[in-house]
Amino acid sequence: MADAIDLSLLRKGAHSPSYFALTRSMGGSANGQGGQPDLVDFCIPCNPYFPTPGMFQELQGGLETILKYYPSDADSITSQLASTLRLNPATVAMGNGSTELITWIDHLLIRESMATPVPTFGRWTDQPLETGKRVDMFQLREDEDFEFNVDAFIAYVRARGSRVAVVCNPNNPDGGYLPRSEIVRMLDELADLDLVVVDESFIDFVDAEVNGSVAEEATIRSNVIVLKSLGKNFGLHGVRFGYLVANPALARIVRQALPKWNLNSFAEIVVFMLAQHHEEYRESLRLLAQDRWDMSQALLGVPGLTVFSSQANFLLIRLPDGADGVDLRDHLISRHGVFVRECGNKLGITSQFLRLVVRPQADVQRLVAGMMDYSGRQESSSNGYAHQNGTIGQPYGAVPGGYGQEPAAAANGYAANGYDHEPSTNGYGYQHPAAHAGGNVAGYVGVGYENPATGASAPPFARGNVTVASGAETNGARHRRLEPVDPTGLAPAPQQRWAG
Ligand SMILES: Cc1ncc(COP(=O)(O)O)c(C=O)c1O
Repeated sequence: MADAIDLSLLRKGAHSPSYFALTRSMGGSANGQGGQPDLVDFCIPCNPYFPTPGMFQELQGGLETILKYYPSDADSITSQLASTLRLNPATVAMGNGSTELITWIDHLLIRESMATPVPTFGRWTDQPLETGKRVDMFQLREDEDFEFNVDAFIAYVRARGSRVAVVCNPNNPDGGYLPRSEIVRMLDELADLDLVVVDESFIDFVDAEVNGSVAEEATIRSNVIVLKSLGKNFGLHGVRFGYLVANPALARIVRQALPKWNLNSFAEIVVFMLAQHHEEYRESLRLLAQDRWDMSQALLGVPGLTVFSSQANFLLIRLPDGADGVDLRDHLISRHGVFVRECGNKLGITSQFLRLVVRPQADVQRLVAGMMDYSGRQESSSNGYAHQNGTIGQPYGAVPGGYGQEPAAAANGYAANGYDHEPSTNGYGYQHPAAHAGGNVAGYVGVGYENPATGASAPPFARGNVTVASGAETNGARHRRLEPVDPTGLAPAPQQRWAG
């Protein structure tokens, strides 16, 4: 398998290579078929349970028409989406992927400076940098589990004088989620900025809170945009569609900049199909939340891994000190046909971290087997990685050129690029709570699940509590990141970190 894959494709740029580029490099044909037969993609975060096979058949049946004819103009497609989502069409603008909207938000609404937590989705840092804006990067700290602290961020925005703030909720790549009340508090505090963007591209995957979106808030505020990517939740990245919600004046500014036919016929057909497949979509989210739990439990069984709690459709993991994510990624794809996202080309995080898309159990078994194989090889090729009873004595092994020991700024090389960035310390001295005082948020409404393994079911919409990773007051700053809950209600309390 190793010779079949052009590993240099994985070393280019800030983003992963497309599935098409990868399969072509493995001898596949132009339409992405053939070549390496069963590449399992843990890299691109999309919903594996939606569209349903029936919906794909429907799309296939209409392929010729879809490809031959012009779609309706963007306003007509946007009206249909707004009606399905029960939004006022005047508050919506649809883009060819939310990346198109990010591009226009930058061109039209970000004038001089923007603040965002890092690590985050690369376009939120790279796009404004490419157009000469100052990007103030608020480092999320690994020793705080990448928790986003609203008060510390607001203080940072004030200290830097940033005119725009962008926050992803849940965040990519760590999957951290902030409850709606905290986001609203942030919007209140930053009401004087030119713009605050809340990127909710992964919010449909959240099960710790129902209706965590602040889209309705955006429609009645003067400076707020909520962004959504439809490719992720509907499992259709290739279609390229996303939308924003804002007050009518703000939404119109973006809509008017977009080409009349910026959406293709696939986007139109899918938007019209959605109205009839709401139940299947909800079911896909339930299945995915179950998979997220199962996958985190499976990964916790791999010696040396730290698994971060996530409310998105991916899990961030940290490899043991000294382990090299690039080497592991290359091993997994070339020997096991498993494609993972190593995070070294993201700002604010290193190659010691991998982002793994939530996938069904059979795929996860293959991933875990690949990781075990890798750790076994490291163990036998060096005398590192000795673990007893699941305890790591040494890291995976000394890997030449590994990034694992490098400080974030040096590994990413961005300290020298003139970016406005402060690695690790942000000058606000907020501390990691000495004890992660677990708290409970009363009144949390969860989703009922049937545990596929046991057949036991948890009551739908009736979970009373959700564990909070750190509800402690620390230096007056509240940390309010929600932990995942076991959807079956059967497993022991989630372990956030596996430490041997
Ligand atoms: C937080 C976030 N926003 C937006 C996007 C872009 O999505 P789209 O495919 O809709 O352009 C991504 C892609 O990964 C993302 O992670």
